[in-house]
Amino acid sequence: MAAPHPERTTAGVGPWPGGRAEWPEDERYDPELLEHGDTRNVIDRYRYWRMAAIVADLDEHRHPFHVAIENWQHDMNIGSIVRSANAFAADTVHIVGRRRWNKRGAMVTDRYQHVEHREDVAALVAWAREAGVPIIAIDNVPGCVPMETFDWPERCVMLFGQEGPGLTEEAIAASEAVVEITQYGSTRSINASAAAAVAMFSWVQQHSPLVPRAAELPGAGGPGQLAG
Ligand SMILES: C[S@@+](CC[C@H](N)C(=O)[O-])C[C@H]1O[C@@H](n2cnc3c(N)ncnc32)[C@H](O)[C@@H]1O
Repeated sequence: MAAPHPERTTAGVGPWPGGRAEWPEDERYDPELLEHGDTRNVIDRYRYWRMAAIVADLDEHRHPFHVAIENWQHDMNIGSIVRSANAFAADTVHIVGRRRWNKRGAMVTDRYQHVEHREDVAALVAWAREAGVPIIAIDNVPGCVPMETFDWPERCVMLFGQEGPGLTEEAIAASEAVVEITQYGSTRSINASAAAAVAMFSWVQQHSPLVPRAAELPGAGGPGQLAG
């Protein structure tokens, strides 16, 4: 019995139907997963695929927006932001500040998502200038504009702050626009990972086709049986 795959979920697919004789002749498929089944948290199209093959395929259709999050306090939101970045096919997540980040909420989605470290806001600014990508701060501070009416640049990096302090003054000063999600209740803010998911959804509403791209590709929905 092979060691369980480290990325486990409660549902998945069993061994490839028909056994070894029916295995597809395709380098993207992982023999161990074909033999034992695939319970990773991946969409059906990627069932039984090697991790490197999934990353390579995602690289073919990632969106041109980036996500950056200031990391001065090991904020628990960061993992969830990485997970949403993966779900919305962001180009790269930039962790600004401390190199170590709280991976709990990522649910191992960081394996499939490019994540890079920037020493500080100045380093993010230097990278953004070099890449020709405008920084869009996401926060509800004086002078911000509502996201509902904001025209997202197709290439951009959306920059989020942390629980408590929010974005640093340096981060806001480095941004071409500051964009807020309109709120209607009594709380001063939503949490950073919720704000990040809303912002990414807002970007894809303006710039991405309605049908998720991965589902359109040939081979969507593999032949495996749901193992329950
Ligand atoms: C919990 S907030 C803290 C700061 C917030 N400005 C305040 O006054 O409470 C943490 C981060 O979440 C994001 N955020 C929370 N609510 C937001 C909103 N309504 N609009 C835009 N960003 C928001 C921002 O990136 C912010 O820096």
